[in-house]
Amino acid sequence: MSSNLTSLLYLIAAVLFILALRGLSSPVTSRRGNQYGMIGMAIAVAATLGRHGMLAEGYIWIVAGILVGGAAGAYVARSIAMTALPQLVAAFHSLVGLAAVFVAAGALNAPAAFNIGLPHHIHTQSLIEMSVGLAIGAITFSGSLIAFAKLQALMKGTPILFRFQHQLNLVLGLVILALIVVFVAQGGPQTVFWVIAVLAMALGFLLIIPIGGADMPVVVSMLNSYSGWAACGIGFTIQNLALIITGALVGASGAILSYVMCKGMNRSIFNVLLGGFGTDSGGVSGAAAGGDRTVKSGNAEDAAFIMKNASKVIIVPGYGMAVAQAQHAVREMADHLKAEGVDVRYAIHPVAGRMPGHMNVLLAEANVPYDDVFELEQINNEFSTADVAYVIGANDVTNPAAKTDTGSAIYGMPILDVEKARTVLFIKRSMASGYAGVDNELFFRPNTMMLFGDAKKMTEEVVQSLDH
Ligand code: TAP
Repeated sequence: MSSNLTSLLYLIAAVLFILALRGLSSPVTSRRGNQYGMIGMAIAVAATLGRHGMLAEGYIWIVAGILVGGAAGAYVARSIAMTALPQLVAAFHSLVGLAAVFVAAGALNAPAAFNIGLPHHIHTQSLIEMSVGLAIGAITFSGSLIAFAKLQALMKGTPILFRFQHQLNLVLGLVILALIVVFVAQGGPQTVFWVIAVLAMALGFLLIIPIGGADMPVVVSMLNSYSGWAACGIGFTIQNLALIITGALVGASGAILSYVMCKGMNRSIFNVLLGGFGTDSGGVSGAAAGGDRTVKSGNAEDAAFIMKNASKVIIVPGYGMAVAQAQHAVREMADHLKAEGVDVRYAIHPVAGRMPGHMNVLLAEANVPYDDVFELEQINNEFSTADVAYVIGANDVTNPAAKTDTGSAIYGMPILDVEKARTVLFIKRSMASGYAGVDNELFFRPNTMMLFGDAKKMTEEVVQSLDH
């Protein structure tokens, strides 16, 4: 295949990747976006394999790699629970980081194959790109493994803090930078290459351990961004247009996503990355915080009665709806209420659940009409005119402590004003706190009725009661 044709195919693949990102920005077009991405990737892989001499030797390894990797990826993607997606993404990113390390090692050992010079005579520019890509790749590898371990509960989610932690990270970062200079100045010695790899892996580990579990999705997105920049750097080294463009797209979109998530929690990216969030949440356990205060609890029949007589119900889904997979039951309940003439809407908080767009994806899966789904800014004023807020498996995103308690870990996060509804129905299994570990004062309010139970089971019972 001529190099012009390869470049053209890479360009087409890049356009398809951009269309994929565009499509993924809304649940309505996300399926199409995914398809664009898959076609783009197929074209990029085919164009790479079609390059002159690519399949001449070792093609068995390439085919075997595609079969084994593809089969493993397909199996994992099909069997994974939606709630476990963040850790899956973290695990995949660690592989991207490791791949960047290996590609850099390959380029150092066989520079002629990558057209970047001869052994011990590699172009200076390539040495810079290679070592920077190596360092970012190694940080991404170990950092993503820690993020995976925390999200999968293989490691405690609480931040691990010690004295002079940030100073140590700074020193390590400076040492790595100095070694990159030495590596480039000395023409790419192997020992320095591997010392950079080991130190960067140690830095990745140290950077992620102080970050609490609640911030992990932001970190995963940041690491996603790093892996993109690592791929981009390596793309320059091996002069691969597809890798440069794709890496830059991943790098930029990951950074933007992290920013959007931080904005949703009203935290700065530095606050997240410097870690420690969740060590002092200011909350005590639900039962202890409650003291002697009484909690009004009800059952599905009570909820059905209240909602049947309402004219406006706003459903607020959260992480518990995802765990219970209650979205279909929720849609069924909304259909029943609409048939009774009730105005039913859904309010989505930007960080409800455990990943961006988590609730939108679940509601789309249950065929909830997009017109019924509203973002926080669009619907927050409407709670005061709602008869019922049906809060299903959501907690932190409704907690008024975010507005009033300056010592709270969630202080400053915009919240859904469910308390303004005439009646607030909280569907959850216990008085336990949410992900940030902060108690929710609303459980004790006179206009709140707790519906203790599994989100799906309780909603199905409400549907049955509405039927009678
Ligand atoms: P949470 O505050 O975590 O509350 C979820 C509630 O669901 C829990 O209190 C739990 O109470 C209940 N629950 C769990 N399983 C249930 C089940 N099977 N049936 C019924 N209820 C169940 O969730 P949220 O309100 O969605 O807030 C999200 C949190 O994650 C925020 O703190 C946010 O900052 C954080 N976070 C999110 C993201 C993104 S991008 N979404 C990123 C970073 C951080 P029980 O145990 O009593 O049932």
